[in-house]
Amino acid sequence: MNDPFGVRNGRPASRAGLSETLAAPGGTLLLLRAFLGVTFTFAGLQKLANPNFFSPTAPGSFQEQLRGSIITSPLHHLLDPALHAPTVFAVLVALGEVAVGLGTLLGLFGRVAATGGALLSLSFFLTVSFRDSPYYYGADIVFLFAWTPFVLGGSGAWSLDGVYARRAERARAALIAAAPREGMTKRQLSASKRQAAEFERRNFLQKGAAAGVLALTGFTIGGVVSALGRFLHSAHSSGAVASLPHAGVPARVSPAAARHAPAVTGTTTRPAAPTSTATVPVPKGARIGPAADVPVGGAASFTDPAQQIPALVVQIKSGDFRAFSAVCPHAGCTVQFDGTSDVFACPCHGSVFSATTGAVLQGPAPTGLSPIPVALGPNGQLYVDG
Ligand code: FES
Repeated sequence: MNDPFGVRNGRPASRAGLSETLAAPGGTLLLLRAFLGVTFTFAGLQKLANPNFFSPTAPGSFQEQLRGSIITSPLHHLLDPALHAPTVFAVLVALGEVAVGLGTLLGLFGRVAATGGALLSLSFFLTVSFRDSPYYYGADIVFLFAWTPFVLGGSGAWSLDGVYARRAERARAALIAAAPREGMTKRQLSASKRQAAEFERRNFLQKGAAAGVLALTGFTIGGVVSALGRFLHSAHSSGAVASLPHAGVPARVSPAAARHAPAVTGTTTRPAAPTSTATVPVPKGARIGPAADVPVGGAASFTDPAQQIPALVVQIKSGDFRAFSAVCPHAGCTVQFDGTSDVFACPCHGSVFSATTGAVLQGPAPTGLSPIPVALGPNGQLYVDG
């Protein structure tokens, strides 16, 4: 008799032929299981190899993603405690993914691994991709449902679980064959039961030992990948954009000058520096720093004084300054300026935004970056609404 995993009378269906195995539903699930196992192992190792993921101040860190999720997730109250120990939670997530991935690949405690995978996918869906629209654009909800056959049915015959299950089945069959068919005394019956229980116990312990070896292997691989990632990261540390020093400092504007200050219009463009500082008033708003600190074709970061959130100002061409919120509308990570492509890129899930307009060029972010009106004062300082 076949079950959905391609088992025939407790044995892999391949014994009856490869084509039959691949044609059976179990063949499809085998591919799905391999994909989930590889993906979760890779995702966990990728996190372990990335020191920025664990650094509270780095762009794209776990802590940053968590802060963003607290804003967008329906579970925001439940996420608050994780902010008190973000590194611990980051390590748990990464190691959890590796454990789920390896357990699924080898099919060892496959139901437990699949349940862990489903819970991780559910938590990612409710935090990271909850705002994806339409809902099926996010991968996490797909992963969640992809785990369900393994949560319900385990890893199937082609797995270590299957090996141990077949061993137990064979042992039970041998015990039954060895027992007298009729007239079994009470003593014989209880001895037979004890033997069966002893075998089950030993089988379970062997399976537990295999899980221990697998966990040790996962830790070792994770440790090596983590050390390698840190070594490569320190060898290729990238240059960050400059940070403007006076974010949030209100402009010292005389009432007369304020009355004549040019209105801060629309989005972001401001004229080049005026030729005479005597006749042009200082713009309204808060001074964020010297325009000279923002190179032409480059960017600098500052804190938006109005909302106290990270922001970026770019000088598109000489005298043309534009500023945007640096908070990614997808899940709240801080976007970075990519000078090679003149775009803003989100380190968390790959959204890309135009550095000229802030419009989203590539998802999953559902909308563009919010513009912040910026003006260049006669004193060479930049000002934003604040
Ligand atoms: S936070 Fe997900 S793409 Fe930016």
